[in-house]
Amino acid sequence: MGGDMNRDPFYITTPIYYPNDDPHLGTAYPTLAADVAARWARQNGRDVFFLTGLDEHGKKIENAALKRGMTPQELVDQKAVVFRSVFGALYIEYDRFIRTTDDDHVRTVTTILDRVYARGDIYKGTYRGLYCVDCEAYYTEKDVSEGDCPIHRRPVELLTEECYYFRLSAYRDWLLQHYKENPAFIAPRSKRKEVVNFVQEGLEDLNISRSSFNWGIPLPFDQDHVAYVWFDALVNYVTGVGYLDDRAKFEKYWPTAVHIIGKDILRFHAVIWPAMLKAAGLEPPRQVFAHGFWTRNGQKFGKSLGNAIVPQHLIDQYGVDPVRYYTFRAFAFGSDGDFSDEELIRRYRGDLSQGLGNLVQRTTSMVDRYFDGKLPATSGELSSPELEVKTTSEGVVASYSSAMEGLAFHIALDEVWTLISGLNAFINQREPWKLYAQQERQQLAQTLSTVAEGLRIAAILIAPFMPHTAGSILVRLGVDANPAQHSVSWSQTWKGTKMKVADPLFPQLKVLRSVGEHGAETGDSHADHR
Ligand code: ME8
Ligand code: MG
Repeated sequence: MGGDMNRDPFYITTPIYYPNDDPHLGTAYPTLAADVAARWARQNGRDVFFLTGLDEHGKKIENAALKRGMTPQELVDQKAVVFRSVFGALYIEYDRFIRTTDDDHVRTVTTILDRVYARGDIYKGTYRGLYCVDCEAYYTEKDVSEGDCPIHRRPVELLTEECYYFRLSAYRDWLLQHYKENPAFIAPRSKRKEVVNFVQEGLEDLNISRSSFNWGIPLPFDQDHVAYVWFDALVNYVTGVGYLDDRAKFEKYWPTAVHIIGKDILRFHAVIWPAMLKAAGLEPPRQVFAHGFWTRNGQKFGKSLGNAIVPQHLIDQYGVDPVRYYTFRAFAFGSDGDFSDEELIRRYRGDLSQGLGNLVQRTTSMVDRYFDGKLPATSGELSSPELEVKTTSEGVVASYSSAMEGLAFHIALDEVWTLISGLNAFINQREPWKLYAQQERQQLAQTLSTVAEGLRIAAILIAPFMPHTAGSILVRLGVDANPAQHSVSWSQTWKGTKMKVADPLFPQLKVLRSVGEHGAETGDSHADHR
């Protein structure tokens, strides 16, 4: 691919989800985001490891299993199948699906606990606090309003227990130093200050054991306690790249780790986790990136609130690639946003059907009609307006690449659509049908080669978001279907074989017909090229 792209190894992770219920669009979101980032990195020839999975221990899971008359193990086994199939249905391609009940993970947590204990950073005490089972976290009086958890709006419980503490307070100054020396450690930038302020106010030691239930990993130094589910869960990120069992793998990937997480769990990742790693003699990850919440009518959707969007329903109505597109085009990765069917439909029709779909259809059918599918070689230098298309494309590639590097997905997509709209406008300006009528063969070939090259580059850039669509466009253009085989640099001479005209990529939405709308305005099945 392009010359100045980052070629380092790349380790990308997602939160591991509580399998107390089925995944929804919110829980699929970080895994989709990681998939987009991983695909872009792989396309660029980087050596990628992408980890996602499940957080299977703790009281929440034990309760959920009890409610269903199952053992926790039965519940998590069942949900692991569901999560994997939802991820598969969304075209997510991870390298490992980790489960905290995996043998190597249990051994890794045990080893880390032993190391931190040996160092003197774990000690015994008692705890009294307000606990939210849905968060698996204690709250202070000031977090709790009218006895309810601030996130789940359900009553917290007063718990008193003998427990082990992790000496988190000792890491305050080291953490502040780390944030200062690594300004990109917490992203987006707007989230950084919040964490720094929190740590500056001082840290309390963390209760890391539970003795009121058994569904967890026993502390190696006291079998009457199991590890607090967060102390267990965070460790998945080092288990996943072979901390215990594959040292070379661990050393290659760990320094490049980027944790994608929701803003609800930023403190666990930006405060507790680096301190745990430090106590265990390990380096912090490279970056923690906190994304925002999907809401519906302004309320966060989630399992416990019952207002969640089910990915399969969206896939059935719109197809996988349009859902992936909407997910990252709707609002900035890092901000909150409201789910809207109207907006999804508007983007489907406008950006996809009339924008991209129409461009593919016009291009392939004009090349088919005017050149029997095979563009002739064109001669040398471009002049305006072809040159402007090339310049636009080069600008788009540069901005897109830097947006992707910063996980600014909606900016990246916005850039690609600048190119797509530019290509459609260029066709309208050049009116190839007139060049054909006037028998301007050279100019016609130059015009359509320019469009084809721009479209090839657009396909490469949309591939991380819409992998199926990208492959399909490349096949229709008569070039290699694998985006990793392509360069995003502009090439003056079109190298494709025969182009193929096929059905519209984004057909009229079935749901609209069934409610009685005629879909003539989608424009993607137009017979002429205007
Ligand atoms: O917190 N919008 O698991 P979890 C956007 N097991 N993202 C959402 C969302 C929404 N409405 N709802 C959930 C846990 N998410 C722990 C994590 S990591 C070592 C352990 C996403 O099942 C968001 O990324 O509650 C959030 O952080 C994650 O799901 C938490 O999923
Ligand atoms: Mg949660």
